[in-house]
Amino acid sequence: MLRSSVSRLASLRGLASNAARKNLTIGLIPGDGIGKEVIPAGKQILENLNPKYGLNFDFIDLEAGFQTFLDTGKALPDETVKILKEQCQGALFGAVQSPTTKVEGYSSPIVALRKQLGLYANIRPVKSVSGTNDRPCDMVIVRENTEDLYIKIEKTYTDPVTGTKVAEATKRITETATRKIATIALDIALQRLKQNGHATLTVTHKSNVLSQSDGLFREICKDVYESNKAKYAGINYNEQIVDSMVYRLFREPECFDVVVAPNLYGDILSDGAAALVGSLGVVPSANVGPEIVIGEPSHGSAPDIAGKGVANPIATIRSTALMLQFLGHPEVAKDIETAVDANIREGNIKTPDLGGKSTTQQVVEDVLSKLA
Ligand code: NAI
Ligand code: MG
Repeated sequence: MLRSSVSRLASLRGLASNAARKNLTIGLIPGDGIGKEVIPAGKQILENLNPKYGLNFDFIDLEAGFQTFLDTGKALPDETVKILKEQCQGALFGAVQSPTTKVEGYSSPIVALRKQLGLYANIRPVKSVSGTNDRPCDMVIVRENTEDLYIKIEKTYTDPVTGTKVAEATKRITETATRKIATIALDIALQRLKQNGHATLTVTHKSNVLSQSDGLFREICKDVYESNKAKYAGINYNEQIVDSMVYRLFREPECFDVVVAPNLYGDILSDGAAALVGSLGVVPSANVGPEIVIGEPSHGSAPDIAGKGVANPIATIRSTALMLQFLGHPEVAKDIETAVDANIREGNIKTPDLGGKSTTQQVVEDVLSKLA
């Protein structure tokens, strides 16, 4: 299981100094839309943890998002980055509402934050709860978090021959970032091998078309595996072209264990995988780097339901648990996950995305009562 794997990884990634830390400063960045409804849910869970864990939290409210951009001209204020770097061991990030058309001066703050804080891995466990009607699946999507098309080098120009517009984007894959993401993915697979008795790494790519960029990703992942064969002995190594990966994800999700992917495919695959477990509203993530961990639900700002009090808080609650796991508190993370699983298994108190009628707050209270 991921739990102890990530606590071990936390120490591997230089977060060891936080491992014993009982006093934690947590930045809260709700962002836009339902981010403002789900981040308070994560905060409530932390505030109401049983004193037996001995954890104390200081919270710092931080700004970022499209509304912040409209108000101040900056989507990611320098102050937010400075406080995260200098004062916080962890943070919870809600979602930002990025416009689909270009707005001069605006750039997604979460993409910038991942780069500026060196959050090179986005870890997205997608797991069904036993005893429910969900398709059985238990996978961890390990998404590269700093490059690929998300470096956002784009240009639009007029073709001198046809006189029509052309837009181009740069897809960057580096050996350095790929080695880091392949290593953390294999380390997670190694822990799952120890716990489950089997583990498979699936490298996702499209190197049949993008032979250089995705070709490099595939080549480096393979090299990390083969150069450390003794360490990773027993882990099955697979490669899967991304389009057929989507097909297989829906046909036989139980085949996938640890999936490593470049940024864009990882983003798309994890939203797709969320459909296997009922809703985007239940899938968590952790942005992991050497200095700080940011828990972040996989979903966006959900403008269609924002302000109605019915956003599913479970993705954020699970992200809060993941953050604690990486901060060296796997036992607390486990208890939160168990409480969430009990809520899902019982199925009485659930938000409309899961077919229920409950509010965000009612779900939070049910999880808190199970945690008590
Ligand atoms: P979305 O994830 O916001 O919503 C997709 C669908 O899932 C919607 O029907 C929504 O109601 C539902 N949904 C998502 N989270 C839910 C929750 N917790 N509870 C219940 N239902 C939930 O994706 P969409 O609509 O494509 O994007 C909306 C905005 O969010 C866009 O501006 C996009 O740029 C932004 N976005 C931001 C992300 C981030 O900040 N990390 C990630 C993805 C999208
Ligand atoms: Mg996404």
